[in-house]
Amino acid sequence: MRERQIVNSIPRRHQLLYQLLALMVAIAVLPLLISASILIRINQRVLENDLLLLHTRIATDTADQISHSLAWIFDQVEVLAKTQLLALPLSSEHRERLLLHYLDQYPDLLQLSLLDREGKEIACAYRAERISPSTFLPDPGLHQEMIARSREGKRAISPPFLAGAPKGPVLRIYQPIKNDAGEVAGFISALLSLEGINELISKIRVRRQGHAFLVDQRGRLIAHPNRARVLQEDLSDLEIVKNYLLVGKTGGTVPFRDKNGREMLGAYSAVKNLGWGVVIQEPREDAYLSVAEMKRQTLIAGLLATLAAAGLGIAFARRVSYPLQKFVQGALSIAGGNFSNRIDLKAKNEIGQLARTFDYMTMQLQAYDENMKEMFLGTVKSLAAAIDAKDPSTRGHSERVTRYSLAIAEEMKLSTREREKLNIAALLHDVGKIGIDTHILRKPGRLSEEEYFLIKQHPVMGANIMAPIRQLSDVVPLMRHHHEFFDGTGFPDRIKGKEIPLGARIICVADTFDAMTSDRPYQKAMEVGYVVDRIKEWSGTRFDPEVVEAFVRCVRDARIPGHKDA
Ligand SMILES: [Fe+2]
Ligand SMILES: [Fe+2]
Repeated sequence: MRERQIVNSIPRRHQLLYQLLALMVAIAVLPLLISASILIRINQRVLENDLLLLHTRIATDTADQISHSLAWIFDQVEVLAKTQLLALPLSSEHRERLLLHYLDQYPDLLQLSLLDREGKEIACAYRAERISPSTFLPDPGLHQEMIARSREGKRAISPPFLAGAPKGPVLRIYQPIKNDAGEVAGFISALLSLEGINELISKIRVRRQGHAFLVDQRGRLIAHPNRARVLQEDLSDLEIVKNYLLVGKTGGTVPFRDKNGREMLGAYSAVKNLGWGVVIQEPREDAYLSVAEMKRQTLIAGLLATLAAAGLGIAFARRVSYPLQKFVQGALSIAGGNFSNRIDLKAKNEIGQLARTFDYMTMQLQAYDENMKEMFLGTVKSLAAAIDAKDPSTRGHSERVTRYSLAIAEEMKLSTREREKLNIAALLHDVGKIGIDTHILRKPGRLSEEEYFLIKQHPVMGANIMAPIRQLSDVVPLMRHHHEFFDGTGFPDRIKGKEIPLGARIICVADTFDAMTSDRPYQKAMEVGYVVDRIKEWSGTRFDPEVVEAFVRCVRDARIPGHKDA
């Protein structure tokens, strides 16, 4: 129990195994995590730059493309305005045919009108399959405003609006027609479909979910992959659109949230001369997919490294802590008086050397211990022999009682420690007789009451003689009680049953047997068979039945031969 307390007195966190484990894990995982986090940060920064470049490039390219295609169509309308369509005296049917011919060449134009100076329609041509006359005009107020602006001699362009069948984004171009004097004499008004631009915008894909959209100078959505949203939404609140409206030109943004609250990355670029802006946006999670993957792989690598380090740590720690545990056990074994244990480690390193030294030390201690025990036992035997010699009839009595007692103890499977105690107690059981007059001890015939009283003092006297020897504290009770009887009728304390120490109960049987099988001044030696019968009779009264049984088996097996044959 005490040994366990000593071994377990190390808190778990201080145990070598756990300390080495923590060290191995730290060595394996910390550098990995630090380098991975640096790499991820660098990667993220590079990726952010690349993304900004990519988004900006797509936005700029798209804005240029839109700008070019619109400029081209504006130029075509301008060319039409420079023809003599208004100046020549043509019939309106003729003019309309000419307009229709023109219209056929430009699929994006839905309708062409020739207007007089007041903005009143003189001739009109339109794509009947795509638009009806009732839908191709903006509201009258806007029409007048455009006419007024165009009358100053420059092209006017309406904001996009919905028209056509099905309704799609369109805008109206007002191109002034000048006479020879350079005055504005009328206008060409053209309805331009923005479907082509919407298509261009819709086709743009940036990886999985990145896309483009187009806003006008007020932030209204004028082209979007989702056609239903076109000209139905005001995006001027959206952070990236706000940025565009504020800055114009081309730029990228810090991450922003779209209307659904998703985090986005993006860039914008202005469409020249129109004030429109192409916006590219992509969900942040998509953009950082590779970074997320990198983090995931780092995590897996970290976990694997932790497991590997833990495995190695355990193996390594066991290699170190196992021998140490053997040393602890060896040391505890020595502390408990057992010198037969050996560390016996085959290691060739310093630990192996230490183990061999430790075993050598234990061997030396064992030899010293055995020497001491031998010397002690020799002394005890000499003392016992000296007592026995006080009376020639008891010569060898203590040695024989000891031999018989040990035979019974072996039969009863007593522990080594118990047998060692018994050995000394049996040798010294009659040491108290040292203080009894020799003539009483040698007296033939019956003893007087007083003499018998004196004789009966020998267990107490023996116990008192040995009591000061601390190392014999376990032995003294066996000496004191070797004349107690199992039924409590013995002496000196008249204790009974299991109160009498087992060793004393054994000595009592062995002592009686030797006394009865030896010649004494007051009696002749009795036959072994007779004595055994008597002892059996006294089983349960004088003697412990279990001891008697063991004793009988020993006699039967000739392990207890009787004095004559001993
Ligand atoms: Fe005795
Ligand atoms: Fe005795």
